[in-house]
Amino acid sequence: MWGEAKVIERIDWTDKLFSLKLEADIGDFIAGQFIKLSQHVGEKRIARAYSLVNAPGDDFVEVLAVSVEDGLLSPNLQALKIGDSIDISTKAAGFMTLDELPHDGRHLWFFATGTAVGPFISMMRTEQPWHRFDKVILVYGVRYAEDLAYIDELKSFKQKYPQQFELVTSVTRESCDGSLNKRITDAIESGEIEDQLGVKITAEDAQVMICGHPQMITDLNELLKERGLVKNLRRAPGQITVEKYW
Ligand SMILES: Cc1cc2nc3c(=O)[nH]c(=O)nc-3n(C[C@H](O)[C@H](O)[C@H](O)COP(=O)(O)OP(=O)(O)OC[C@H]3O[C@@H](n4cnc5c(N)ncnc54)[C@H](O)[C@@H]3O)c2cc1C
Ligand SMILES: NC(=O)c1ccc[n+]([C@@H]2O[C@H](COP(=O)([O-])OP(=O)(O)OC[C@H]3O[C@@H](n4cnc5c(N)ncnc54)[C@H](OP(=O)(O)O)[C@@H]3O)[C@@H](O)[C@H]2O)c1
Repeated sequence: MWGEAKVIERIDWTDKLFSLKLEADIGDFIAGQFIKLSQHVGEKRIARAYSLVNAPGDDFVEVLAVSVEDGLLSPNLQALKIGDSIDISTKAAGFMTLDELPHDGRHLWFFATGTAVGPFISMMRTEQPWHRFDKVILVYGVRYAEDLAYIDELKSFKQKYPQQFELVTSVTRESCDGSLNKRITDAIESGEIEDQLGVKITAEDAQVMICGHPQMITDLNELLKERGLVKNLRRAPGQITVEKYW
């Protein structure tokens, strides 16, 4: 079912990357879930999923999106101005939520590329991760430094939870002070991230959530499997929970 979402605010992080704040009624949702945004393009309805960045209980809907070259919907989303409307699914969906993790662990690892940092921000805007885990570690990979959306808010989590929160950024296509200059998979394979943090990813201690580029998810899954971590399924609890964006 479709409802109406009206743009009330937008942030343009770069010339391609943007956040929209929308006035819309989507009911309750769990941090980590997504809604669909939709438009008619010619005769056809185009609908695409976007993770919610806002926290449950906020009186607005927030999404972070990138305009994909020749994409059917995302360039139209980028063109929306304040006051414009778009169709929105009236119920959020998705299983990449903290409720799906089989048990509390010592270390909660979030791995995101590009816009996939959004659902993790939504989770970090709630009390849940901070109550359930000794450490919350976000590893966030982008192409260019300017693509590090929400970086100020992420740094503010570090101020709020100095012992508990670790932020690792990776910028792959230029060098940037304070960020790794390699893919997050390469920095996991080499052990660099764990050495830097003094935290090992182990099946005993880690719950890992991975979101974004499908190949990154596949590659990281392989590396984690070598360390004994397995996919988390409802019928067979494990340590790895993923959401592919395409
Ligand atoms: C569960 C889920 C949640 C999602 N959440 C988000 C989100 O929060 N923000 C967001 O921007 N997108 C998100 N996506 C992707 C989004 O649904 C669309 O696929 C994207 O906006 C492109 O749509 P399009 O019609 O413009 O492109 P299409 O014409 O459908 O072209 C799709 C192609 O664009 C590329 N692509 C798609 N999404 C991305 C992306 N985010 N980053 C880089 N390349 C991409 C891929 O090459 C893909 O094959 C999510 C997808 C899923 C399945
Ligand atoms: N000016 C433009 O036209 C412009 C600019 C930016 C984005 N875009 C559009 O935006 C889309 C998405 O760009 P994005 O930068 O948000 O997302 P992205 O292509 O998913 O890149 C985000 C990060 O993921 C990394 N990555 C990719 N594959 C990986 C893998 N297998 N393992 C580990 N890391 C991996 C990238 O590293 P690498 O750098 O090594 O690939 C980059 O650091 C593009 O498809 C493009 O259409 C356009």
